[in-house]
Amino acid sequence: MQAVRKVALITGANKGIGFEVARQIAKAGWTVLAAARSEELGRQAVARLLADGLDVHFVPIDLNDQKTVVTATEAIRNQFGKLDLLINNAAIVGAGDGPPSKVSIETVETVFHTNFVGTIAVTQAMLPLLQGAGKAQIINVSSSLGSVSLQNDPNWEYAPVKLLAYCASKAALNMFTVQLAYELRDGNIAVNSINPGYTATDLNGNRGTQTVEEGAAEIVRAALVDTPVTGKFLETGGDVPW
Ligand SMILES: NC(=O)c1ccc[n+]([C@@H]2O[C@H](COP(=O)([O-])OP(=O)(O)OC[C@H]3O[C@@H](n4cnc5c(N)ncnc54)[C@H](OP(=O)(O)O)[C@@H]3O)[C@@H](O)[C@H]2O)c1
Repeated sequence: MQAVRKVALITGANKGIGFEVARQIAKAGWTVLAAARSEELGRQAVARLLADGLDVHFVPIDLNDQKTVVTATEAIRNQFGKLDLLINNAAIVGAGDGPPSKVSIETVETVFHTNFVGTIAVTQAMLPLLQGAGKAQIINVSSSLGSVSLQNDPNWEYAPVKLLAYCASKAALNMFTVQLAYELRDGNIAVNSINPGYTATDLNGNRGTQTVEEGAAEIVRAALVDTPVTGKFLETGGDVPW
């Protein structure tokens, strides 16, 4: 049997932008499946949202552990029968990241495995559940740092941020968005990349200039819109150049 409410799965929902997105989408009346790799942190985050009377469930997903993805997919199919929204939010910045001439090769592998390979794995597993919903959407939480056009502009305000592993993993994620949107263009699933903007979270030692509410804003807007666009790279106020 299918759940009556709309159901959203958000990876990396135990803190930062993912937690705020989970809170706001649940507040809009959705059932939210808050995924986290740490059982303890995931359950703590869900407890905070349950205390606000929201319909939120913990789902263990580690992007680097395919077993957790398979188990989560089966659990969602059994309990809810469909998925209306997948937000691929979880990501890392690696300690050995840096400019192309110096970045640690191990970091490139780790960051790509989490941010790109892991995200594809979760998406592929969830596709049948998304196809089983009326109208569905996949939101890939990207970054303007993954924009090849902006990175190629020496006057862009973030041009000095040359963290090759992280930036290239987001550029690759954008390619995933574009190709998957094309592949699914005649179906019920929209696929978009969204740049939350520079937001104070653990990802950047809380140096970001936006609050998590500001960072979540475009993701939540795009998630709750009635008829989503597809194949776009969006941020608050408009499109981001690829
Ligand atoms: N903050 C910014 O300025 C900014 C700007 C542009 C884009 N973004 C993007 O926004 C998204 C959210 O980032 P954030 O700033 O909210 O960072 P954050 O506070 O560090 O949160 C990242 C989340 O991803 C989870 N995660 C990391 N590796 C994982 C794995 N292997 N499996 C499952 N979950 C994993 C983390 O779990 P743990 O707690 O267990 O580590 C955490 O829940 C990311 O995609 C990031 O690239 C952020």
